[in-house]
Amino acid sequence: MSKLTLAQEADRRRTFAIIAHPDAGKTTLTEHILLAGGAVRAAGAVKARGENRRARSDWMKIEKERGISVTASVMTFEHDGKMFNLLDTPGHEDFSEDTYRTLTAADCAIMVLDAAKGIEPQTLKLFEVCRLRDIPIITFINKLDREAQDPMALLDEIASRLQLDPSPIWWPAESGNRLRGLAEVGGQGRFQPYTRKTADNDGEHPAPLPFDQAADFFQGTEQADMVDALELVEAGYKPFDHQAFLEGHMTPVLWGSALRHFGIEELLKAIGEWAPPPKTMKARKEAPPETRNAPAPEDITVEPSKDEVTGFVFKVQANMDPNHRDRIAMFRMASGSFKRGMKLKVQNTGKQLSVNAPIMFFASDRELAEEAYAGDVIGIPNHGVLRVGDSLSESGLVRFAGLPNFAPEILQRVRVKDPLKAKHLQKALVGLAEEGVTQLFRPELGADFIVGAVGQLQFEVMADRLGEEYGLDVMFEPSPYAEARWVSGAKADLEDFAGKYRPQMAADIDQNPVFLAKSSWETGYVAERFPKVAFSKTKERG
Ligand code: G4P
Repeated sequence: MSKLTLAQEADRRRTFAIIAHPDAGKTTLTEHILLAGGAVRAAGAVKARGENRRARSDWMKIEKERGISVTASVMTFEHDGKMFNLLDTPGHEDFSEDTYRTLTAADCAIMVLDAAKGIEPQTLKLFEVCRLRDIPIITFINKLDREAQDPMALLDEIASRLQLDPSPIWWPAESGNRLRGLAEVGGQGRFQPYTRKTADNDGEHPAPLPFDQAADFFQGTEQADMVDALELVEAGYKPFDHQAFLEGHMTPVLWGSALRHFGIEELLKAIGEWAPPPKTMKARKEAPPETRNAPAPEDITVEPSKDEVTGFVFKVQANMDPNHRDRIAMFRMASGSFKRGMKLKVQNTGKQLSVNAPIMFFASDRELAEEAYAGDVIGIPNHGVLRVGDSLSESGLVRFAGLPNFAPEILQRVRVKDPLKAKHLQKALVGLAEEGVTQLFRPELGADFIVGAVGQLQFEVMADRLGEEYGLDVMFEPSPYAEARWVSGAKADLEDFAGKYRPQMAADIDQNPVFLAKSSWETGYVAERFPKVAFSKTKERG
């Protein structure tokens, strides 16, 4: 049992995600953050863990073949009196929808840039989601051990392309073969030397020391040049302002090399000190589902120190063991003190669950969670009762909104090769849609299902899982549709529209009406013709 109060437990949580363009070094950085946090003992552990995981689950062979990570999970570790929950987001762009949902469970994001490449397309996309959700960002510029762009050019790119004030906390003394270390900007004027790995040096970096005592680590005029550079930097960039960072106007910039475990302690310290603890969340208090003449829902705020356990499911993962059809719902707590065995209710169905075997994902292994607090993520095994976007609480009345579904960019028809298995296919498709793997649309007329995805790779994962888990050999065929839009409006207006476009109307798995457009031109055309109907690219479940 914790001796700390609820507020103190919540206050020491740091729940964060790493966002990066593929190849910028997210996996390597994850590993080295875990190493610096004492959560794993040797480099290579994250990959080894990945290998084990793959060995246990066949469907992830796609992950192995394509060398990409397609599932998001969480790793928890305790360091320096704080509990860190690192949410792992898939980097491949086809999985951006999954990434977006994971970011709804994060309180802070680490944006990793490759020092030679700066901001890349996927960085920009992910950044936009963080901005939309008011998630503060710490920047880590990686791969300093290789030739980098001019540091000022990198910061200017952050300022101009992201409209974000960069505030350098450290400044790199060169890069690549000439990398000498990192000098602190302002502050105590420390210097963190860099050491190369050689035959007789294990490459451990010396402890930081005052900059004016660091002459041994420089050559020629390098140190004097650095003094001039630091003067320019201090005059040219705003000093770090915690409030501006929390409000999303400023990003502290740190530098290093994930691969060479350089600059990682500084990054971890910055997360511990500056990343916000779980915040007060907006929610709605609803009447129980079966209530007649229910009162109108009430807008409420949920403080992390509130007694009642509340939270939401941001991801559902298939069980790693293909012999079990169980799923693990990743539940992000917004408040309360969770104890194993507790009963929680699903807000929209009123179903009650006894959470007897909750899982905490400690970096080294999975463990049963005995207790958890706001900011923590626990895995709740269930047989399909929990869905992405579900809100859970002790009372069953608290509902968090804001988990988006994104309009798919590819729509295909799916057929099973053995026609006797059509019923099975339907069940499997619903299952995968509930997990959020792909979206499913059931046209009002006709029998074919339309499956939607943000990227092609989602179809590959889907086909693989349909084969491995459900024994279904399927084929995808082009559909006549190019776009899907959720439609809403007054009943009469919706009926008028649907009446005219019946063959293109469908329902999603929550029975929300969807218009399937044959082209983006058609979407624009109907939106103009039916101004009272809203055609939406996203749908927020909750
Ligand atoms: P990702 O998850 O963002 O896609 O990137 P990942 O960590 O897999 O890193 C991509 C490549 O960049 C890897 O090389 C990795 O070793 C390298 N890398 C990451 N951080 C650094 C760094 O600080 N310095 C240097 N020089 N390289 C770095 P790879 O050759 O593609 O893979 P591997 O065979 O080394 O695993």
